[in-house]
Amino acid sequence: MINDLWYKNAVIYCLSVATFMDANGDGVGDFQGLMRRLDYLQGIGVTAIWLMPFQPSPFKDDGYDIADYYGVDPRYGTLGDFVEFTQGCKQRGLRVLIDLVVNHTSNEHAWFQDARKEPVSKYRNWYVWSKKKPKNASSGVVFPGVQKSTWTYDDAAREYYFHRFYDFQPDLNTANPEVQAEILKIMGFWLQLGVSGFRMDAVPFVIAEKGAHLKKPAEQYDMLRTFSQFLTWRQGEAIILAEANVLPDTDMEYFGKDGERLQMMFNFEVNQNLFYALASSDTRPLVKAVKATSKRPASAQWGSFLRNHDELDLGRLEDEQRETVFAAFAPESNMQLYGRGIRRRLAPMLQGDRRRLELAYSLMLTLPGTPVIRYGDEIAMGENLRLSERNSARTPMQWSTEPQGGFTKNDKPVLPVISEGAYGFQHVNVAQQRRDPNSLLNWMERMIRMRKEVPEIGWGDFKFLNARSTSVVAMRYDWRKNAVLCVHNTSSEPIEIRMAVDGPDESGCSLVNLLSDDHSHPEQDGRHRVLLEPYGYRWYRVCGLDYLLKRTEV
Ligand code: NOJ
Repeated sequence: MINDLWYKNAVIYCLSVATFMDANGDGVGDFQGLMRRLDYLQGIGVTAIWLMPFQPSPFKDDGYDIADYYGVDPRYGTLGDFVEFTQGCKQRGLRVLIDLVVNHTSNEHAWFQDARKEPVSKYRNWYVWSKKKPKNASSGVVFPGVQKSTWTYDDAAREYYFHRFYDFQPDLNTANPEVQAEILKIMGFWLQLGVSGFRMDAVPFVIAEKGAHLKKPAEQYDMLRTFSQFLTWRQGEAIILAEANVLPDTDMEYFGKDGERLQMMFNFEVNQNLFYALASSDTRPLVKAVKATSKRPASAQWGSFLRNHDELDLGRLEDEQRETVFAAFAPESNMQLYGRGIRRRLAPMLQGDRRRLELAYSLMLTLPGTPVIRYGDEIAMGENLRLSERNSARTPMQWSTEPQGGFTKNDKPVLPVISEGAYGFQHVNVAQQRRDPNSLLNWMERMIRMRKEVPEIGWGDFKFLNARSTSVVAMRYDWRKNAVLCVHNTSSEPIEIRMAVDGPDESGCSLVNLLSDDHSHPEQDGRHRVLLEPYGYRWYRVCGLDYLLKRTEV
């Protein structure tokens, strides 16, 4: 059971084929380029790759507007290249997850084109229509300020169609059994080509009832069981990692009481409160969020993350908290997006401060869940705020000091490579950081290795220890008679903490530092005293009291 649930102690790396590595020199990344970089990915120690959409698409929403679910966009290569890629991953022990974007299609998809032209079309009922413009057409838009409505008139159909996202992304009528059958077929197709599962896009919208007259659309949670069962029947190890930014009290509906629905969900609740902790040095809301999301079936897992390809969504924070994060990390309005988020990369948000970057990563890596790392964050890439909306944080990977950061030989890359200022490829790139033992990249590699060696975090039960400081989080994980303790100081001040830590027996315990030689013995009163530097962090293994003494004798 333990080895089979691979996602419980995995490290996932997410990337877009378009901006990772271009092999054929046309300026767009491709599968052949990505294949050349598989040894790099294996080398940093990640165990799974999540690919953003790569199917044929007009690319009005970075590929999240799919025009054919059963192909590879010709700019990236062919289906043959895709299979070479999954095979290359398999050889290196890397699993592949791909995006499953089935809440909507592109309006250029043949299904929609057919549906709009013919009322008798087989596909008409695959979408959601209304003869009149629904009264609530302007509510529920996902991209406020850019998207005006959720219903748009189609001249050919002579009806309005529903689109939760942009108007070029008509929603699929997911309650239609034919659409559901097609979703299963899409999953089955890619499973055969070597993937281990899907990052499922916009899950709350996929399962919501859709229609013009619904006042409060209900969620059809059991649809998730249908998807999950199908996966398990076809390929036992396959999973769904859901994008579902939902309130903690519905988490169990998504996972299913016995884990029969989703295997994984991104923990948006913790993500937002983590950024609040980094901005304010007040860790109390983070602790609350971790506790609020602690309930989950034994087989389920959270996806922990810092930044992703979208804006950092702070919509669930209280207004004042959100303002605190904006003031700290996105003080200019051009850095903010949709009234709720931040369109920046992690490193510039933290002013490139190595101590804060390490703290943020260390904390994320030790929260309950499986870490998901965004490409480029391992070398502290920056953003380009001149690009529109979320493209600011989607610039090409910076490999070297060669022109275009070594991403392409073409002088017109798909998105501009960052080439100015402190985050330009001349200063921030993989080649230089590989040679420098103290680089962030090499630090990250060591941390990923250690994270994998601490399965207690993925599998164990946790509790918070009282460190008597609101700036400090101290978490202990116990699993199979092993325990680790992770301590993080989110403040710019040094802090001395005193903690009582239970050991394996009544004689007390020593704390063995997993990242350096600075171990800890209890003092006379049985407590441990630890001096944490500004933004300091420790990963300790909890051992018997005589452990360190014995070790020195050997
Ligand atoms: C969520 C994706 O992460 C985002 O990039 C996309 O725009 C929407 N879903 C619509 O597919």
